Amino acid sequence: MKIYVCKDYERMSKVAANYLAAQINIKPDSILGLATGSTPVGMYEELVKKCESREISFKNIKTFNLDEYVNLPKENINSYYTFMHSNLFDKVDINQNNINMPNGNTKDFDSYSKEYEEAIASNGGLDLQVLGIGNNAHIGFNEPNEYFSKETGVVDLTKSTIDANSRFFDSIEEVPNQAISMGIGTIFKSEKIILLASGKTKAEAINNTVNGPIDPHVPASILQLHKNVLLVVDEEAASLLDKNSYEIV
Ligand code: GLP
Repeated sequence: MKIYVCKDYERMSKVAANYLAAQINIKPDSILGLATGSTPVGMYEELVKKCESREISFKNIKTFNLDEYVNLPKENINSYYTFMHSNLFDKVDINQNNINMPNGNTKDFDSYSKEYEEAIASNGGLDLQVLGIGNNAHIGFNEPNEYFSKETGVVDLTKSTIDANSRFFDSIEEVPNQAISMGIGTIFKSEKIILLASGKTKAEAINNTVNGPIDPHVPASILQLHKNVLLVVDEEAASLLDKNSYEIV
């Protein structure tokens, strides 16, 4: 696991965007796994700028998003569908047919989840997966559990995640208590993974991810076993890490 520490959120966003831009330019038909949340917003802004200046093009890129709330209409301002369209997809030259997002309003989640897995596999698997991290070290919406989830499916959200995500909703009652998420196994199969984290509230999750035992109660800790993971974090999120364990960029 390689760790880059950036002085602040702005620098973290630029470093992450440069990494994605390199992937896009090296392999213009990359299959990207994308994440939502406030953390990658700055990275998406940088990618939009790079696309506007023609440094990169999404023309042949295919995307698969990590997760979506269950039973939240996709037009809802808090749906991940809306998030991705307003932060990235509507601002770059991506072919709308190349966008794949889990459907949180399907009737049969079991067969739909299998189809989502198959769609990723039939495209040759993910080249690069972008991740944020929850305060409890969840990735996607894979919450701390007794085991690491393997495949895409419906998950119950923990109180800590519902509390954290309630900042975007008018009231906590409006926060969905379930989501459909790629499994940890799905994420792990990606060729490369980049995980972003910013702020003090993520410091413990980052420390447990890097230094703790590999434990499904710390879902991101499984990344210690992956062959190609880059953590891009700001100084606050890195505040509990040993200074010899990272590079300052
Ligand atoms: C949500 C998303 C995750 C994200 C996490 C952290 O639960 N499902 O993919 O990493 O929130 O969000 P934020 O970046 O807003 O702290």
